Amino acid sequence: LPTLTILGATLLTGCQQTNQSLSIGDMASAYNREIFWMSIWAIALSIIIFIGVSYALFYTVQKFREDKHDAPPAQFHGNNKLETILVAVPVVIVILLSVLTVKSMAVLNPTPNQATKVDVLAKQFWWNFAYPETTSDAGGVVTNGNELIMPTKEAVALTITSGDVIHGFWAPNIGGQRAAMPSVKKTWQVDTDRAGAYQGNCSQLCGASHANMRYKVIALDKTRYDATLAAMKAYRAPEPAPGSAEARGYTLFMQGKASTGAVSCAGCHRVQGTPAAGAAGPDLSFFGTRRTLGAGMWEAMSAAQWIDEKAAAELHAWIKHSQKVKPGSLMPPYDGTPYMKGGKLIKTGDQGANGTLTDAEIDDIAAYLRSLKLPEEADYWKGTP
Ligand code: CUA
Repeated sequence: LPTLTILGATLLTGCQQTNQSLSIGDMASAYNREIFWMSIWAIALSIIIFIGVSYALFYTVQKFREDKHDAPPAQFHGNNKLETILVAVPVVIVILLSVLTVKSMAVLNPTPNQATKVDVLAKQFWWNFAYPETTSDAGGVVTNGNELIMPTKEAVALTITSGDVIHGFWAPNIGGQRAAMPSVKKTWQVDTDRAGAYQGNCSQLCGASHANMRYKVIALDKTRYDATLAAMKAYRAPEPAPGSAEARGYTLFMQGKASTGAVSCAGCHRVQGTPAAGAAGPDLSFFGTRRTLGAGMWEAMSAAQWIDEKAAAELHAWIKHSQKVKPGSLMPPYDGTPYMKGGKLIKTGDQGANGTLTDAEIDDIAAYLRSLKLPEEADYWKGTP
């Protein structure tokens, strides 16, 4: 019964906040299907055994009640028929489960093949997805932070590691959890069988913003996947028009503001086609094409929504008050408030502290970030359920 309750709870769990089903029963990969049906078999067998044992127990208790018998029941030793059955039944069950397990293992641990390779790097508190030079034309591409883009109906080999503490890689619709450990690289070959955007979460308590460490698995049909990655590879950030908000934002992004000690964004973030090549924080090359912010803390369900006032306010708040918005993140706040870094309280003026920016300056940076967009036809969110 506890097993059933847990299964029921798991199946019925959805996440309304993200509009995305987090149920393992909402299967989007052969991997997940295999585990799901394996669990169903195991549970079905458990139920049959439970019913059998319960029946035998109640039957015995009822039939041999003391008040139904004048004399003690017959005493005997050994019963070949009964013992044979009691050995044979578990043997059959174990064999059946073994066969099912071996069959599943072949699906879950396929022989490595010419899979698309993705390097998954977990950090406090975001995810980096890079497509290494060694495979296809996508070599060298890094997606927007917290967006894993995969081709459907094709094996994808994820090499998972961590840049700091232990994190957990888990997208319930795709498959089981994998630990992301520092200095350890584990490869997990997986697939998706229908296009869509699936929710991923960090599943290992990893610090103050563990709950704010989400990502999306965006599964695209092969042609669209190829086109998206090709567009990302060819992308060069547009040159902002002189005198525009974007141009002012560009300068602040690249240089910071020496007079207040505000460090540049470029020191930690990369924007393809510009001198910004920082690797400490998420890649911002196609920021304007994003639909999430702060590793899934906010989600906009459409491009129109993303550029509205609410999103603008969120982006503004995120840049300015990063530590209030996402405690423990390595993004320094530009509001001059003290923040904790490596267990130490850093105040304005301290070594490693960040200076302040005005609201107008933060809006300029936000305007620059929003101008970093893939061409309309390469917007991988479009039509994604
Ligand atoms: Cu990373 Cu929890």
